[in-house]
Amino acid sequence: MPDILAVYGSPRRKGNTSLLLKEAVRGARDAGAHIDEVVLRDLRMSPCLEIYGCAKTGRCIMQDDFQGLYDRLLACEGLMLASPIFFYTVSAHTKILMDRCQSLWVKKYWLEKGKSKTKNAHRKGLFISVGATKGKKLFEGTLLSIRYFFDVLDMELWRSLLYRNLDFEDDVLKHPEYLEEAYRSGKELAEAIKDR
Ligand SMILES: Cc1cc2nc3c(=O)[nH]c(=O)nc-3n(C[C@H](O)[C@H](O)[C@H](O)COP(=O)(O)O)c2cc1C
Repeated sequence: MPDILAVYGSPRRKGNTSLLLKEAVRGARDAGAHIDEVVLRDLRMSPCLEIYGCAKTGRCIMQDDFQGLYDRLLACEGLMLASPIFFYTVSAHTKILMDRCQSLWVKKYWLEKGKSKTKNAHRKGLFISVGATKGKKLFEGTLLSIRYFFDVLDMELWRSLLYRNLDFEDDVLKHPEYLEEAYRSGKELAEAIKDR
């Protein structure tokens, strides 16, 4: 049974990315995955203070809710991360998580000198994002950050679901095809991890 961590990065509990991620979670569960869900806005998590307390062990020394999340990020075989586009990047909640994972960058590149990659080669990630506008470049900056984030997690960015022109809380409900794609992607992610 694949273990998948689902991270809700929007401040809105029932917003567009949350609804999409819920569908992906449903799909993955239907494929037999065990899902652990985290809503970032419910966590007490400081931004990275750039003190490199992680330099000795690869573990952040700041004692807040990131500690538990760090263990869950290391333990899962798949990650489904959803964030709205805020000023052409991820939400602040999501960015705080990403920056705290600098401790994993330190672990990977300073302490393990890049050797962990093959050990975790099977880990796969799904990224879901939504923006209100329609511009061609809407997801460009975010995708660059997300690619490096998944790299630090030793995960293949297996698929990204990116939807434009969704603004109000449940705009995505007008697009059942997006919700179906999210459901299918969750299911396929779980199957891809299982089949490795
Ligand atoms: C602080 C803030 C910044 C935003 N910046 C952008 C932006 O740069 N481009 C865009 O297309 N939409 C932007 N939006 C709109 C959101 O991406 C949009 O409402 C999205 O549907 C929210 O997703 P959610 O319901 O999952 O939170 C912004 C919204 C907020 C609150």
